[in-house]
Amino acid sequence: MTAGVEVGRFDPAHATEEDLRGYHEVMVARQEADRPDEPRLSYENVVGRLKNPFVGFGPVAHWVARSRGEVVGLAIVYFLEEESGHIGLTEVVVHPRVRRRGVGTAILKAVVPELRARGRSLVETWEITKGGEGERWAESLGFRTVHTVVLQALMIPEVDRNRWRVDVPAGYRLRRWVGAAPEDLVASFAAARNAMHDAPLGELGYQEPTWSVARVRAREEELRRNDIELRAVVAVHEGTGEVVGLTELEVHPHRPSRGYQRDTAVVPAHRGRGLGRCVKGHLTTWLLADRPGLDRIYTTTGAGNEHMIRVNHQLGYTTVRTMVAVNRDLAELEADLGSLSGDAVGRAPKG
Ligand SMILES: CC(C)(COP(=O)(O)OP(=O)(O)OC[C@H]1O[C@@H](n2cnc3c(N)ncnc32)[C@H](O)[C@@H]1OP(=O)(O)O)[C@@H](O)C(=O)NCCC(=O)NCCS
Repeated sequence: MTAGVEVGRFDPAHATEEDLRGYHEVMVARQEADRPDEPRLSYENVVGRLKNPFVGFGPVAHWVARSRGEVVGLAIVYFLEEESGHIGLTEVVVHPRVRRRGVGTAILKAVVPELRARGRSLVETWEITKGGEGERWAESLGFRTVHTVVLQALMIPEVDRNRWRVDVPAGYRLRRWVGAAPEDLVASFAAARNAMHDAPLGELGYQEPTWSVARVRAREEELRRNDIELRAVVAVHEGTGEVVGLTELEVHPHRPSRGYQRDTAVVPAHRGRGLGRCVKGHLTTWLLADRPGLDRIYTTTGAGNEHMIRVNHQLGYTTVRTMVAVNRDLAELEADLGSLSGDAVGRAPKG
């Protein structure tokens, strides 16, 4: 590549400490520029994520861009599976110090052949800060905005815990577990999870999984292998003994002070009775009893999902950022990138 910027595959398992330090620096500089609301990532946080990628999104591959040997940009690509097996979930990050010199575009160009080789037809990116540089970059490359989400955070030390004490509505009881769903509930738990199909996803290429017992068990196993704690609280309908509402949360080994709220769903016939707030409130109280050091919980919700956003506010969550998801057909992107000159890389910044 021209003007001293080289893009290549990156294998975290065999990376040098110098590369990992450079990678961390890019991530921290990006936080400061694009996500100033986030607490600064430590070196261990970043290396931990590299070694423990998100579970449930398929295999992951990495690229880095180097200038004079130093890491200045990176890409993380998850090759989604099953219903979403046509998607390369792609995130490109460039150190703010070298933006507008074609580095981001050069990284994307390097990623594209692998997307093609793995049979992808759609490039999709989630969680781009709305109004930021990433959004303008994506637009300039012909990506289309297909969904808007809000990131909400529960800042534990600042929240009145009484907000989580929600009575269980008459006719229901709660059950909870860490790791694996009990045998007597797993079938109705899997079925109830399919209520997630009602969550608005805009025009994302990503499709919610169709849940079965086998898929629930496979996910539990993958989380266990990656040392991720999975907690669930469910509402069981007394009349039928079936799970009709659920919520899940993950705690990752390299970020033990953080919780990642996952799916919350109530099956249609049982909506409007406060079950969503009830299961989430109980999960939070239970989690904090076991993990008093927990500092914050993050959750993302479709910007149009008023009910979920309201429930989160009632529990004390605040909205910290709005983010967009974009996508583009791979063949179209490839054609456009092919016509861009590689000489742009390393040029003086514009704008
Ligand atoms: C998005 C990002 C990777 C772009 O990296 P970059 O190296 O600056 O991108 P390039 O230099 O290849 O930009 C190519 C074109 O995108 C457009 N563009 C990029 N940043 C822009 C900005 N801030 N404002 C307007 N247009 C912009 C321009 O058309 C630019 O060409 P030009 O400089 O000739 O006008 C970088 O801003 C970043 O790391 N953002 C945070 C992470 C993120 O949001 N990633 C989302 C994409 S996955």
